[in-house]
This record gives sequence, structure tokens and C-alpha cells, in this order.
Amino acid sequence: LTVDASSSSGSPIPDTFFGIFFDEINHAGAGELWAELVSNRGFEAGGPNMPSYIDPWEIIGNASYINVETDRTSLFDRNKIALRLEVLCNTSGVNICPTGGVGVYNPDQMVWEAWLQLKYRSASEVSNWTKVETILEAKATDHNARLQLTTTTKGVIWLDQVSAMPQDTYKGHGFRTDLYGMLANIQPRFIRFPGGCFVEGVWLRNAFRWNESVGPWEERPGHFGDVWMYWTDDGLGYFEFLQLAEDLGALPIWVFNNGISHREQVDTTAVLPFVQEALDRIEFARGDATLKWGSLRAAMGHPEPFDLKYVAVGNEDCGKKNYRGNYLKFFSAIRSAYPDIQIISNCDASSKPLDHLADLYDHHVYTNASNMFVGATVFDRASRSGPKAFVSEYAVIGSDAGTGSLRAALAEAGFLIGLERNSDVVHMVSYAPLFVNTNDRRWNPDAIVFNSYQLYGTPSYWVQLFFLESNGNNYIRIKVVNFDANTVNLHISFDGLDPNKVHLSGSTKTLLTSSSLTDENSFSQPKKVVPIQSLLQSVGREVNVVVPPYSFTSFDFLKNHLLSVN
Ligand code: AHR
Repeated sequence: LTVDASSSSGSPIPDTFFGIFFDEINHAGAGELWAELVSNRGFEAGGPNMPSYIDPWEIIGNASYINVETDRTSLFDRNKIALRLEVLCNTSGVNICPTGGVGVYNPDQMVWEAWLQLKYRSASEVSNWTKVETILEAKATDHNARLQLTTTTKGVIWLDQVSAMPQDTYKGHGFRTDLYGMLANIQPRFIRFPGGCFVEGVWLRNAFRWNESVGPWEERPGHFGDVWMYWTDDGLGYFEFLQLAEDLGALPIWVFNNGISHREQVDTTAVLPFVQEALDRIEFARGDATLKWGSLRAAMGHPEPFDLKYVAVGNEDCGKKNYRGNYLKFFSAIRSAYPDIQIISNCDASSKPLDHLADLYDHHVYTNASNMFVGATVFDRASRSGPKAFVSEYAVIGSDAGTGSLRAALAEAGFLIGLERNSDVVHMVSYAPLFVNTNDRRWNPDAIVFNSYQLYGTPSYWVQLFFLESNGNNYIRIKVVNFDANTVNLHISFDGLDPNKVHLSGSTKTLLTSSSLTDENSFSQPKKVVPIQSLLQSVGREVNVVVPPYSFTSFDFLKNHLLSVN
């Protein structure tokens, strides 16, 4: 293998190349990355009408002690349901309450933290709502802990908007620190959010709508995600995603609904309210505090604008009848109001040109390991003019991948090497999905696996770390995937380097491998398949390296060092 190491070789890799795609799937955000411990905190998940179910809340005490029902007496206009508890027992008399009292509990299997702050609203009369806050200090660790609200006093209590937030979220911004740390490790240059199908919905009424996800948390109605079939209180709303991007030092890429869900399409002639919503949302992120939406952002604690430069019009909607027409309405409105914003089309132009204007086009690939490996050449043939590619979702799936195998990770590594080689046309790349909560596995595999108190990265997660410094210029990095059962002895020689400056001491090798292609990480063996770094011995202008079977290796030759050594 001869490496042309001259400065004129290859294409520079864009600063924005590697990022992450946060998708609200697998309970990734609701009750997890978003550290809220209570689910269905406003009792709205059963819908606005009565009687309504209160799942996952459960009642403590039988009908002779307590009567629990929803009613529409909340003081919040956008979420009218409150919970009425009629306590029939007492501390004395004929009907004595059971030990521990009666009430309700939120069976949050995701509890992970010992310090809690509890906020709830209660009242003995509907007209007299009171906000009550307290700090709960746990005396011990119990991974099956649950929040209980109980009493032994006869009477009627109404509850609404019950929240339990851990005190030590990242910067107090609400993100679970260990999961946030896994994201920060990847050093993502962008974060695409809040999801793919989650944005679309099966029905439009269940699509993610930003204007109901901003402002005080008590006033957010929440919504049912009908693709992945769970309720979100939308505490992790538009503002919080922008905050997450800022905390990570990543550019936010907002995916919004373009009037199309899995089963419904708004006609292009009627899509203007959606377009206005997109414009309002951009003003919320970027507008100054004198503007209507900018002032709401400022009131939420962020007077400075967020750095929103990318928006994606819909998700996987290109083939649908109204997409092109709707897209063009969004494109012209956003381009004219915010000419610097990069607009991403759902239509994949990797094999044929787009018939509409765009700055980037989306490319999604979910396939088996061999197709993914071969996919390394897909962009060799892509047009070099026109919009750039955003590979916003890629993953090996199916039996090759299991719940996150070495085989899948190696094939993805091969694919990513091909994308880097084509970085003149591929501008952004992110794996999908990012997270899975093992209490609600909807999709396999995923990059980061967690429950209420444990987590690990799949081999696909670790592959992403090999690429995080791809836009650095201070070293020569040679990445090799060996997808075969045989060891490969590789002779590397460098061309284009000053022959007097070829001593490469301090260079390293990072290796990802395992004894079997089906090997996976797990809670009990979180580091079975992880990268191992070692020093490269005796490196010069010519170097011999050994590439083990079923492996991904990165050889990092320190160019800075190399240039400074005589
Ligand atoms: O990554 C899982 C889903 O796959 C995404 O939500 C969607 O965009 C794609 O179909």
C-alpha cells in the first residue's frame, strides 16, 4: 500500500462531517436522556376526554379506601386533565387507611438517581391550586424505586403536573449525565433532531409540533408518538434540543413536519400554516429578544440566539405525492427570510440529479453487512455538482447485526471509509438509531444501550470514535477493515513526505476486534468489543503492520511530530 501523503492529495473533510441523529424511538429521550422520572406527568396521556386512563400511574389502595378518576379541572388551558383522589379512609374511625397510606404511584422502571426534586400541584379545592416543591433524598439505592404520593387522611385531593427531576443533570439542563457523556465522547459536529418517523407520525395529529413543546413545562400538552407507540410529555422540546446542541458544541439540524405523515398529506395549497410554523420556529431559535418568538426563547433563559443553520424539510417523504410541492413552499419562504440557512431535501440525489433546489440531500441506508461494505463506493459515482449529501441514517440491520454485532460495525467502518474518501460530495454523516432503552426495545441495533442505571456502547458506537478527528490535519490516519478470516500483512510506504522528516515515533494503532463476528457488548460485558490503542514500534517512511482477521484498525502517524523531527 502506497500512501500519497503530500498536502495536495485527497479532499479536505468538512468540519461538520461526523455528527449524531437523535431519534425519539426506544424511549431514547422521554424519561431517559431527558432525565424526568415521571411519565404522563399531567395525566393527559389518556386523551382530553373523560373518563380517561392514567397509565403508567397506578392506584395504591382498593375501592373501599380510595376512588381515583380524571376530570377537566386543571388550571392549565392546554392540558385540562387533572387527577381527582377521593380518599375514603382515615387515621382513625371505622375505615382506617392501610399502612403506608393510599394514593398513586408512577412505576418508573427508569429511576436512576438518588437525589430528587419533586414538584407537584395539589389542592383541596379546584379553585385553589398550589405549587408544592420538595427535595427527596434517597437513603439507599433501589433500581426498582418508584415515586408514590400517598395519604392517610380522608378528603379529596387533586393532582396535576407531577415532576421528579434529578438534581445533577448536565449543567442543570435536564440531561442524564452518563448518557450525555456518551454523546460528548463522540464530539459530534452536528445533532439532527428530534427524529425521523417521530416527526412524521402515522397520523398528522400525532406528529411532533414544536409550538406545543416550548414555554413552561407545566403548559406543554405532550403527545402520543403513534409510530413507536408511546407517550411523551415533551419536556424534551425544541428549546431543550437546541440547548443540547449548544452544550455538545454541535450544530443543530431541525427536522420538521412538512404537512406529511405516514398516512396523510396536506395539500400544497393548504400547507402555509406549516410553513409559517417553520418560520416561527426559526425566529424562536435565531430571532432577537424584541421579536415575538425570540422573546419567548429569552424568557426561557436563553437571550442569545441559537446557532441554527440547517433545517430538514420532512423525513423520508420524497416519494409521496405532495412532497415536491410542499417542499418548494418551505424552500422559497425560508430562503427568502433566512438566505444563510442550509435546506435539506428528503430526495436522494446520489444516483440521479434533483429536480428541485436544495443545499443538501438526505441519504438513508439500512441493509445487511455485505451491502453496507460494498456501499463504500456508492458516492464514487455521485454527481460532483449540485447539492451535497447528508447520510443522516445508516446502519447494518437484521441477522447480521443482532442487537449490535462486530460484523455490523466492521461493515459500517468500511462504508464510512468510503464516505470519507468522497468527502468532496458527502458533507455529513450520522448513525441511526442513537439510543435504546432496554425496557422498550423498538428497533435493533442501536449505538448506545441503557436502562435506568447501566449503559454501554455497541461496536457500532465505538466505530464512530475512530472518525471523530477526521477533520484534523495533524496526523496521517490510515484506516483498514479486514472483513476476512485471514491475517493480512501490510507494507505501507509514504510518498510525498520530506525524506528527512520521516521518523514517526509516538504514532499509535487503534484496533477493534473480537474472537467472533457475532460478538456483542452487554451490561455484563460492556467492553467485550471496544477499541484498544497501542504504540506503533519503529515507524519510518516504510512500515510493516499486521491486520488481524475480522478487525478495524486505525494507524495514526503523527504528521506534526513527523514534520518536526529530523
Ligand atoms: O432509525 C429508525 C427510523 O428509520 C427513523 O425514525 C426513520 O427515519 C427511519 O425509517
